[in-house]
Amino acid sequence: MLPKIALLFLALSAAAVVGVRLRAQPAPEPAPYRNPALDVEQRVKDLLARMTPREKAEMLAGSGWMESQPNARLGIPAIKMADGPMGVRNWRGSSAVTNAAATAPVTSTAMPAGIGMASSWDIDLVARGASVVAQEVKALGRDMILGPTVNINRVPLWGRNFEGYGEDPYLAARMGVAYIKAVQAEGVIPSVKHFAANNEEYERHRIDEKIDERTLNEIYFPAFKAAVEEAGVWAVMSAYNKVNGLYCAEDPYLLTDTLRKRWGFRGFVISDWGSTYSTDATINAGMDLEMPGGEPMRIWADKPETKRDGNGSGWLTADKVMEAVSAGRVRQSAVDDAAGRILRVMFTAGLFDHPHAGGGEVDTPEQRQVARTAANESIVLLKNSGGLLPLSAERSRKIAVIGPNAAVARTGGGGSSLVRPKYAITPLDGIKEAAGPRADIVHALGVVMEGEDAGKPPRELREEAVTVAHHSDAAIVVVGYSPKLEGEGHDRLSMDLPAGQDELIEAVAGANKNTIVVVAAGAPVTMTKWIDRVPAVVYAWYGGQEAGHAIGDVLFGLVNPSGKLPVTFPKSFQDSPAYGHYPGENLHVEYAEGIYVGYRGFDKHNIEPLFPFGHGLSYTTFVYSQLKIAFPTVSVSVRNSGTRAGAEVVQLYLQPPSSRVDRPVKELKGFARVTLEPGETKTVSFTLDKAAMSYYDSAAHDWIAEPGRFRVQVGASSRDIRATGEFVVAK
Ligand code: BGC
Repeated sequence: MLPKIALLFLALSAAAVVGVRLRAQPAPEPAPYRNPALDVEQRVKDLLARMTPREKAEMLAGSGWMESQPNARLGIPAIKMADGPMGVRNWRGSSAVTNAAATAPVTSTAMPAGIGMASSWDIDLVARGASVVAQEVKALGRDMILGPTVNINRVPLWGRNFEGYGEDPYLAARMGVAYIKAVQAEGVIPSVKHFAANNEEYERHRIDEKIDERTLNEIYFPAFKAAVEEAGVWAVMSAYNKVNGLYCAEDPYLLTDTLRKRWGFRGFVISDWGSTYSTDATINAGMDLEMPGGEPMRIWADKPETKRDGNGSGWLTADKVMEAVSAGRVRQSAVDDAAGRILRVMFTAGLFDHPHAGGGEVDTPEQRQVARTAANESIVLLKNSGGLLPLSAERSRKIAVIGPNAAVARTGGGGSSLVRPKYAITPLDGIKEAAGPRADIVHALGVVMEGEDAGKPPRELREEAVTVAHHSDAAIVVVGYSPKLEGEGHDRLSMDLPAGQDELIEAVAGANKNTIVVVAAGAPVTMTKWIDRVPAVVYAWYGGQEAGHAIGDVLFGLVNPSGKLPVTFPKSFQDSPAYGHYPGENLHVEYAEGIYVGYRGFDKHNIEPLFPFGHGLSYTTFVYSQLKIAFPTVSVSVRNSGTRAGAEVVQLYLQPPSSRVDRPVKELKGFARVTLEPGETKTVSFTLDKAAMSYYDSAAHDWIAEPGRFRVQVGASSRDIRATGEFVVAK
């Protein structure tokens, strides 16, 4: 055996030899794909050329619940995803996992639901909100946010209405584009979802929707088209449902012909979680990345409830993809294309060059401020008879705050979009703060939220509420839904408020003539039982973590309400254009109302809604004048004729000329949110482009702008037109 000293000598001389060798051979040039100075296409090409067929196949499925497949040999990172769109949600598993108390919580700023953001009609605000979300994605060490949701609110009962931007394709497109651009500007990958026509939760994995080509193009596609053409979106998520007989994840018409060939999409298509049902058809249709993947997918796929719900998964594993290629059912070039599209987005987003390490701050004071402004702007004042609102602590000393949503913060609807904020302000606390120390605020539950437990008999609860209302100067009843009753995976059973809430409102209104109803819900509710008996109604949607402050601010006039409805409120579900064509039979649903969704249907059939699309009151008044049309420009002046500063959303609707096809009475083609001091006047202008005048011709498979006389209607809602004019498009 050698003495220790000799061993040390040998080791040192070996190290010296290695050192000499290292010095003798200069470090190899980094591969071109690692060079941030090179063009993205060059980097993609270079990297693809270095990958084995198996490595490319591996790119087509996730490695975990929310991670794509990394490649250690080539230094390809995983794309680390998180759900949104209203904030960053825990990414560690399905809702069952992340909702469990044992799972380490991930907290982030909770923005208002999409429907609330849309109610602001404030493009800049939507962008600021999305920037907050993207900054928090990075702060938490993730790369991709699974949003925005731009599906159209077709049926008031859809469980996910709250996530989207309402019933109008133009409005949804404007909001979606703003969100996507802001997220991408942060180097975060958005994923506009769910393509296409995910408009009901009922049997969402099995339902087959029959939708004609014109309706798809005029109603259900525009927000996705704008996402691709205007925002250059990096990723699109395909939907669970079938459209015209094919699953969205295996539909070449959707994923290749429409997205890529017609619109020029250059990013990747990601499946919804458990929305794949085949290997060959899925890849050949143009689906790039199947999620989830790896072991978490296998554990989840084996669960009886996963199968029962109709989830499909595990079809794009490397083995299956390789086998499909070697059997000639899938071309190698299709696999290369899919891997290339994923890599292109990764390079564009900077994931190779500036990985998001995490460890950053979330919920900063600036981010909270955005959440509060957003919550304020999202609130819609639906009714305010006799000027009951705003309340003042002078006039109303004692105020009763009642209802199942008063002392609990309903920040969002249920499912994958529900984030966990660090704190959330309840309406009760927000009202107390806004009312100030001189007000006497009393609280009563009144009725328990359906499905929750109050520990007291219903009669006793209601009597308590009536008593406090009776002895107060004003009563605020905060009603609505909960994430359990309104959320992903199930539709609402009816448009009515949950059990006992109508009765509570009626009882309180009977005890106090100054009753104000505040609704926290994600979609319209029936109000016919009590709407004529209460002087004021405020729609607060799900307002995120600052909802309570926003409600207090609006009720007490610290903020002048400015929200406008992005969806028509029918008097009853029967009045909704989709009524009778939902949820379908034997797993088939026909979108028989065609393009007449939302106000387009109410206008066509001349049905009086409870509150029209675009409606929303203010504490001030606005006067419209001087509509000028110098085609393609339309301008109008708006004056604040009241005594408070406020914002008005000026809406431009276009009524088409007599046409060779059936066209809606009018359609939203422009809007502008304008803030005015008392007495101030501003002129807003709109530029109409060819798209504003066109309809989709399903024979030509293209948009057609017909010549003729167009009527311009500018107003404060779709049924409150303040100025009209016309222009003629010559042949
Ligand atoms: C939802 C998607 C979501 C995904 C991941 C699905 O069930 O439909 O919107 O992004 O789950 O959580």
